[in-house]
Amino acid sequence: MPSVTEILDTMDYGPAPEGNAHVLDWLKAHEQGFGHFINGSFTKPSKLFDVANPATGQTLARVSQGSAADVDAAVKAARKGFGPWSKLSGHDRAKHLYAIARTIQKRERFLSVLETMDNGKPIRESRDIDIPLVARHFYHHAGWAELIADEFPGHQAIGVCGQIIPWNFPLLMLAWKIAPALAAGNTVVLKPAEFTPLTALAFAEICREAGLPPGIVNIVTGDGATGAAIVDHPDVNKIAFTGSTEVGRLIRKATAGTGKKLSLELGGKSPFIVHEDADLDAAVEGVVDAIWFNQGQVCCAGSRILVQEGVAPKFLSKLRRRMQSLRVGDPLDKSVDMGAIVDPIQLKRITELVEKGKAEGGTLLQASCELPGSGNWFPPSIFTDVEPSSTVMDVEIFGPVAAMMTFRTPEEAVQIANHTRYGLAATVWSENINLALDTAARVKAGVVWINSTNLFDAAAGFGGFRESGFGREGGREGMLEYLVPAWEAALKPEPLVKAAPLSALPPESVEASAIDRTAKLSIGGKQARPDGGHSYSVYGGKGKAIGQAGLGSRKDIRNAVEAAAKASGWSSATAHNRAQVLYYIAENLSARADEFTARLRAMGQGAKEAKAEVAASLARIFWYAAQADKYDGRVHATKSRHVTLAMNEPWGVMGLVCPNEMPLLGFVSLVMPAIAMGNRVLAVPSPHQPLAATDLYQVFDTSDVPGGVINIVTGERDELAKTLAEHDEVAAMWYFGSNAKMVEAASAGNLKATWTAKRRDWLSREQGQGAEYLRRAVQVKNIWVPYGE
Ligand code: NAI
Repeated sequence: MPSVTEILDTMDYGPAPEGNAHVLDWLKAHEQGFGHFINGSFTKPSKLFDVANPATGQTLARVSQGSAADVDAAVKAARKGFGPWSKLSGHDRAKHLYAIARTIQKRERFLSVLETMDNGKPIRESRDIDIPLVARHFYHHAGWAELIADEFPGHQAIGVCGQIIPWNFPLLMLAWKIAPALAAGNTVVLKPAEFTPLTALAFAEICREAGLPPGIVNIVTGDGATGAAIVDHPDVNKIAFTGSTEVGRLIRKATAGTGKKLSLELGGKSPFIVHEDADLDAAVEGVVDAIWFNQGQVCCAGSRILVQEGVAPKFLSKLRRRMQSLRVGDPLDKSVDMGAIVDPIQLKRITELVEKGKAEGGTLLQASCELPGSGNWFPPSIFTDVEPSSTVMDVEIFGPVAAMMTFRTPEEAVQIANHTRYGLAATVWSENINLALDTAARVKAGVVWINSTNLFDAAAGFGGFRESGFGREGGREGMLEYLVPAWEAALKPEPLVKAAPLSALPPESVEASAIDRTAKLSIGGKQARPDGGHSYSVYGGKGKAIGQAGLGSRKDIRNAVEAAAKASGWSSATAHNRAQVLYYIAENLSARADEFTARLRAMGQGAKEAKAEVAASLARIFWYAAQADKYDGRVHATKSRHVTLAMNEPWGVMGLVCPNEMPLLGFVSLVMPAIAMGNRVLAVPSPHQPLAATDLYQVFDTSDVPGGVINIVTGERDELAKTLAEHDEVAAMWYFGSNAKMVEAASAGNLKATWTAKRRDWLSREQGQGAEYLRRAVQVKNIWVPYGE
């Protein structure tokens, strides 16, 4: 024991351990092992595996490895529970969620200690961040349950949700998944990560204690194989996954064509930008929260520190001093800053990546703190002398290791920040609000924190751009991931029909008047011949050839995507300007309504139908013109003295594959919402009736649509769709055809968001236009802005 004078001399912290007797008692009571929680009770433990305390390496408990049969039993229970649960009134469901929230709150201390022992995170974090946020999440979603009929009219629950979560925030990730699912009226089968299943099992007990009916929440423990069994189960309607991008990609492929709704929250390599006018001391504290919080095992960790050149030496010296003062050790010690790495496997991964960073010439700075003898530990670390392409700047380390480099201008900061395949989060430090917001707007990330970092709240959406996944968790955006418009749920899936092949008919058999109207592709605002020089014949109602269209190829798709990528000015144009262009399109189409009606008639439609289709197309363009400056974002009520701006951002380049039927209206129904929201599009029209869409070229040309905003490539729809789905520059894709499986599987490369929609009545205002189209034409970016000093 040090003497008082020694303590005054060193000013060191003494140990302040949190008591864990109650948790040890609970673990002792379950020493025979945990079963799964299915249909309201625990199954007999079987095929047990050990769960260790990362800080000591000692076994804490043994849990069951879930088999496909266990998963099946859980899904059956969830299916049985779904009927009555989804039919409960919102108010009655709210009461259940509220009861869960209350019970969690009563058990906060117990859950914090259990989480810390299972995961290795400091008790300070589980006690002050994780578990309070868990309770907040259930309270917040009790509110959504209460309001569901008012706030989401015409929506219904999806069904049975399979939810797979990682080990870094075990109970918080459970709350992020279960609370919205239940509020919306779904039932769940959740699998916690194999390293950290204990708080999920404690949560199962809480569900029972809070009186939740059996079958609503089912928890199956196990490893990736158990997760895969949930993903593959045919009676699961939605999969929500948080974890590595690699597994996210596997899940995208496994669910392709199954009709399962999917949300993915994956990895990141988030930039942490420090402009030269930043409050450097605050920014240094920000780094502590960005990369040493939870030992850096955070998907949105600010792991790439970008500092403006002029202040970099000063910033680094402050940061080194601060890093040196961090305390690493027993996570149950209340004065510890950093705990243990979750598992020896993760520690090995971190160590290997750090070795690689050194081998590539990076300079490693590490806190010289003493690490405990047993358990999994890694000191706070920073790499300098790195480049954007260095492994430690590029690969998610998922440990307490940041890499730092400098930038010269704000422009360069954005360029380096976006030099990644991920897009989960970003942090911006500057005392200049204009610069901070401008940077926030230009960084490709789903969440941006200004002069703060790693803030979370149940009222704000969280989720990524690009290969960080799609879908949002939290708030209104998150609720929509667990709901479906009732009209959409009622649509029948389109059976896979092999479309008749396109035929290259000799030109002599085409009517003379039609020959000179061979429709070209439209790329970058110009009419273009197909790269291969081939065209195909288009037939009218009585099987008579009425013209020819270009047979587009992979090369044409690539050219069109390039043109769309270049037309980025459209995405930053004002919403008013975009509305003006859409109105202009409507006006010009209106002037040529008779011509388009005649074209549809030549394609075989009756007079009435053709007229109705043109009229509906016009109405639809006007509707989206009106929406262009009205479908806007929100300000979420999150923490006090913050505004959290939920901004609707265009995806960028979208691929739109139009339906066979309604060749004009189908095209307009996809293209207009997409461009109204600021996307540039590549549209593949109805393959057998492309001429109404290609005729639109002249309308666009006279309506001030900038070149490259609407590109049209005709040809074999599914061949073109595959190239689009595989293209890395295409950020989102809508496909109205019969081979959703092919499109969804091919989209796994850059994890683009896909909407493989079912056959619908395009003339219906409910089915053919509306908020669902606008919502799917944007991704939400949440920007957190603090105010006050
Ligand atoms: P992981 O992605 O393998 O595990 C996450 C969850 O998915 C676990 O519950 C696991 O059992 C389950 N799972 C694994 N394979 C599956 C499959 N084929 N089908 C369905 N479920 C499956 O992540 P892991 O191996 O634990 O960590 C590896 C790396 O992933 C980390 O170093 C980190 O870079 C990243 N990671 C990212 C997370 C995030 O929040 N974005 C969370 C955890 C890990």
